[in-house]
Amino acid sequence: MSFTAATPIHTSSYAPSSLHSNRFDPTIQSPIPLRRSFSSFTPRRTSPLLAAAATTTKTVPDQMDSDRLQKGIAEFYDESSGLWESVWGEHMHHGFYDPDSSVSLSDHRAAQIRMIDETLRFAGVEAAMAAVDVGCGIGGSSRYLARKFGAKCRGITLSPVQAKRAQAIAAAEGLSDKVSFEVADALNQPFSDGEFDLVWSMESGEHMPDKSKFVSELVRVAAPGATIIIVTWCHRDLGPSEDSLQPWEDKLLQKICDGFYLPAWCSTADYVKLLESHNLQDIKTADWSQNVAPFWPAVIRSALTWKGFTSLLRSGWKTIKGALVMPLMIEGFNKDLIKFAIITCRKPHMKLHTAKYQKGVL
Ligand SMILES: C[S@@+](CC[C@H](N)C(=O)[O-])C[C@H]1O[C@@H](n2cnc3c(N)ncnc32)[C@H](O)[C@@H]1O
Repeated sequence: MSFTAATPIHTSSYAPSSLHSNRFDPTIQSPIPLRRSFSSFTPRRTSPLLAAAATTTKTVPDQMDSDRLQKGIAEFYDESSGLWESVWGEHMHHGFYDPDSSVSLSDHRAAQIRMIDETLRFAGVEAAMAAVDVGCGIGGSSRYLARKFGAKCRGITLSPVQAKRAQAIAAAEGLSDKVSFEVADALNQPFSDGEFDLVWSMESGEHMPDKSKFVSELVRVAAPGATIIIVTWCHRDLGPSEDSLQPWEDKLLQKICDGFYLPAWCSTADYVKLLESHNLQDIKTADWSQNVAPFWPAVIRSALTWKGFTSLLRSGWKTIKGALVMPLMIEGFNKDLIKFAIITCRKPHMKLHTAKYQKGVL
């Protein structure tokens, strides 16, 4: 099996400012052009990393929109996670498949595990001692990483139902000393600087209204030498003559956002620019859209079984709304608008002269 379009992008040397950027610094200019201000969590025309960095875009309505989005996400996962677990199990992410393979329903759970393994392989992770699972769902990745590497894992989610369930499964599986879960915001993580040698975000980045702050927090909690992994939904990269998506593309994404509680989307290239702005090393990306293609048809088929359909009706309006936009995900992938992206990099080790400089030796 080969990765599609694995692209080493950039290697850069350590810049001391990145280590000490700690909390998000609103005075740093975003490397991504801010195309429009962010006044509602429903998506706009293009891929702006909107409220990202410019102080001028930080307004009270932004905060209100952000709060409204967070509440929507929390309620969406509070409501839908039980149904998802009963049909699909503990992993709330796509499966990884060989392109064009035909898959039976029982293969999908294995494909979700394979997604984790392929992700680790792509990022070159062979060991981890302390991992953070940013947007942890019901903790499937954390428990897997704890078992595979013996790593201690801390998971955060916006959904109290998910955090509680994640903890309960961990206790039932005898993993309470290894993993823990809490309700916390990925944009303001309850962790110290440099705590983790593996920073893991599996399909949560698409929910983040401020991609710049999201990336800043991932970098902040990463230890020197740590691997940072973002697996996420992106829109296609814009062409050289484009400064926005086509109107039909915006419209399609808008409908998906409404169903899944997503803010504006960005492209893989936008993420790369953000990582470059932190002087991260070994930045690599791949488009795994072909590898996840069988997933959404399978989810829709599961919703159309009697059990799936009746459970869906019972779980509530937010879950039903999400189910109704699932065919649009397939349309977005088929039309090359939506990309399933993996983006990985490494936080540089501190250079000796920099360490001495910080200690006041030089
Ligand atoms: C599609 S689920 C993925 C779950 C998990 N990573 C997995 O692979 O099973 C998205 C997760 O992102 C979380 N999330 C979204 N926005 C978040 C935020 N601002 N802070 C923390 N978690 C967030 C949701 O609560 C949910 O747990």
